[in-house]
Amino acid sequence: MQLKLNNKVAIVTGGSKGIGFATAKILLEERANVVICSRSNENLMHAKSKLKKYDNLLTVQCDIGIDGDVKNLFKQTIKNFGKVDILVNNAAPTSWGPLMDEIDESEWLNAVNDKLLGYVRCTKLAIEDMLLRKSGRVINIVGMGGRGPNKRYLTGGPINAAVLSLTKALADYYGKNGILVTALSPGPIDTGHHKNILTWVAQEAKISTEQAMLNFIEGIPVKRYGHPEEVANAIVFLASDKASFITGSEVLVDGGRFRSL
Ligand SMILES: NC(=O)c1ccc[n+]([C@@H]2O[C@H](COP(=O)([O-])OP(=O)(O)OC[C@H]3O[C@@H](n4cnc5c(N)ncnc54)[C@H](OP(=O)(O)O)[C@@H]3O)[C@@H](O)[C@H]2O)c1
Repeated sequence: MQLKLNNKVAIVTGGSKGIGFATAKILLEERANVVICSRSNENLMHAKSKLKKYDNLLTVQCDIGIDGDVKNLFKQTIKNFGKVDILVNNAAPTSWGPLMDEIDESEWLNAVNDKLLGYVRCTKLAIEDMLLRKSGRVINIVGMGGRGPNKRYLTGGPINAAVLSLTKALADYYGKNGILVTALSPGPIDTGHHKNILTWVAQEAKISTEQAMLNFIEGIPVKRYGHPEEVANAIVFLASDKASFITGSEVLVDGGRFRSL
């Protein structure tokens, strides 16, 4: 299948690790120009060293929770590559664990500022540029907590639900301008973020993290965790010309874990 991504410009937020890193790597293999951002310069340099064979990669230190950082991310992208064709909103996984009485207002505000407003900040600037060519893709990485509420995922669940709502609304509004907006929810994927979740689950249930992982796997029809590359393949497909009639949809990449119609 020809994905025709050469000469496209893609921004992957949170591209230094996990799902974002795997997505950036496949986009580079498909010869897109890729910009990755994350908060830690050390993480970015580590990612860059693993991708050193590609000369069409730009790294920009950016916390999507900070408006000025996001503006600089887009400024550097346009300066180096001239445009933005694809935005993968992936950064800032929300924390798992604390219950309602353990979360104070500042944690709620931080979670909303990072994941929900972070996605909004990036999307606004991406769409501004995409409108110039009447073409573009925005792919929002969400999570099953948006549709399957969980008492141990109190900030993440509502934020993911809000991002799903935003995805639908933006798809509706910008479809006429050739801008397609989709959401993708990964299931348990073997990343640093999911290792943190396992630690919480193990602590609460007073079991080992190995046992917590086995319990998770028991609930997954394919009986294993997903790899970041398996999510990245679906993201890159949604970013490509081959997904030209898909917008407003949520794609699940979860080994069948989410049991709902
Ligand atoms: N793994 C799963 O099973 C799973 C399940 C459902 C949903 N998801 C979603 O998938 C996405 C990626 O998660 P992952 O599992 O790949 O996580 P990960 O391996 O922990 O990677 C997270 C990436 O985001 C960056 N990041 C975090 N906060 C940021 C911020 N405020 N601004 C910019 N970059 C930031 C991190 O780098 P720095 O630390 O350097 O900033 C890192 O590059 C998240 O949106 C997460 O909610 C994952």
